[in-house]
Amino acid sequence: MLAMALFCCACAAYWLWRRMHRKTTEPPYLPWWCPILGHTPILLYCRDYWNVANKIANQIHDMGGAVTASIGPRTYYALTDPDDISTVANTCLHKDVVYEFGKPLLGEGLLTAKLSIWKNHRKLLNPAFNQSVLDTFMGVFNSQSRKLVRELEKEAGKGPFDHWIYTKLNALETIFLTALGVDSTDTDLNLTEYIEALETTLSAFFERVLKFWWYSPYTFAFSNLKRKQDASIKILHNVSNTGKTDIPNQLFNLMFYSISNLANIKFVTDLILELSAENGAFNDREIREQVDTIIFSGHDTSANVLMYTMLLLGSHPEAQEKAFSEIQEVLGDGDRDVEKTDLSKLVYLEAVLKESMRMFTIGPIIVRGLDRDVKLRNCTLSAGTPCFLFLFAVNKHPMWGPDVHEFKPERWLEPGRLPNNPNAFAAFSFGRRMCIGKTYALMSMKTTLAHVIRYYRITADLTKLRLKMDVMLKPDSGHYVSIEKRT
Ligand code: HEM
Repeated sequence: MLAMALFCCACAAYWLWRRMHRKTTEPPYLPWWCPILGHTPILLYCRDYWNVANKIANQIHDMGGAVTASIGPRTYYALTDPDDISTVANTCLHKDVVYEFGKPLLGEGLLTAKLSIWKNHRKLLNPAFNQSVLDTFMGVFNSQSRKLVRELEKEAGKGPFDHWIYTKLNALETIFLTALGVDSTDTDLNLTEYIEALETTLSAFFERVLKFWWYSPYTFAFSNLKRKQDASIKILHNVSNTGKTDIPNQLFNLMFYSISNLANIKFVTDLILELSAENGAFNDREIREQVDTIIFSGHDTSANVLMYTMLLLGSHPEAQEKAFSEIQEVLGDGDRDVEKTDLSKLVYLEAVLKESMRMFTIGPIIVRGLDRDVKLRNCTLSAGTPCFLFLFAVNKHPMWGPDVHEFKPERWLEPGRLPNNPNAFAAFSFGRRMCIGKTYALMSMKTTLAHVIRYYRITADLTKLRLKMDVMLKPDSGHYVSIEKRT
């Protein structure tokens, strides 16, 4: 009781101090603030976080695109303006301390790494995502797409089913093949267990972000949430160690190396191992952390985008038929593979994917730590205060026009219909710390969709879709489609 009273007093004192030392140039306070808890009640008394995030985004937009808010004693800025977001993303490369919560899973991998480590590792890993390297994955992208088409066959003509299960498993197998050179079907890996454990881990991570009393590792250590998280992370690490924890890491990694040399494909692990052998760039722990990061960020993302895109195409038959005609025009009537030169010709399909990512921003909010004062259009952010960047609000900014909430792939094909702002599309974030896998994702998703649409006509009902937010934007219900084989 005494501890609680002391905690409340400390919060109130901190808040008073913060307000007194607040600069007039800082963004205005978001309304709905309450003493001690700050804006936490908005989050606690609601189960529909996605709805709340949208309401907050609209409020921020009405207040000029930048606000100050607080979760318990922690003060944050929150931005929805595209140019302000781009300024922060380009100036401040630090991730906020909430990314520390992801470290039990990802360690100092690129996504969660502190800046001093990230700078060096990102520079070393960039070449693994060069176009010439990615081109060598086309064979895997094609064979994995064909596998998905075969697996979907049992659902054809049988009414609605959950296609997300299929896209997740397929994308996970693809990342094992392309990043590690491991064919998971040849091993005793349980990828379904991995997918379930990842869902649990991400929900636990998000719950911790919302509940400030678990920010401290000391309080979190006593929570059930921590026990649940630890159990699921153990499963994830077992899988990413490819179930061979008894084999010394280095030896097993060398196995990857030889497999990949034989196949003449350059895997991310090849590059990491080469660099480690040449100049000790990564130690064993760092190798594991980068591998965990690539597996995590390289499959759940693409699988979600594919899931939403199939829903959108199923609900917009005219767009689906346009995509189908383009695929036939580029690939012909037969059954040949998608070649790397075909990808640039599938312009409508790319427009479909971009429009899908604009409508459903799967990484809806990211958080940067400010290591310096940042001057924005109408205010100045103070160093030391973390900053929420509402990427989904950029993708739905009024600059996209009165049809901003409609699925219109055509807008990407007519330059006059796109916003006249280079920061209008935020799906992959901005600046030097933007997604390293953007080109990989577009290549693999385009190849997959080309195969799927060529074989199946999809139907779906987007009006049934209900969204929920954790670390990513995910469907809560209504993510079912039906497929029929095309004649
Ligand atoms: C459509 C698919 C994808 C989307 C929408 C997406 C989106 C994003 C976003 C928004 C970020 C910034 C996250 C933050 O700052 O907190 C990010 C970072 C990252 N993404 Fe992606 N991503 C996708 C696919 C991929 C793929 C396929 C890979 C790897 C093969 C990948 C690897 C990464 C990594 C390693 C980072 C951290 C980059 C850094 O901090 O240097 N992503 N991604």
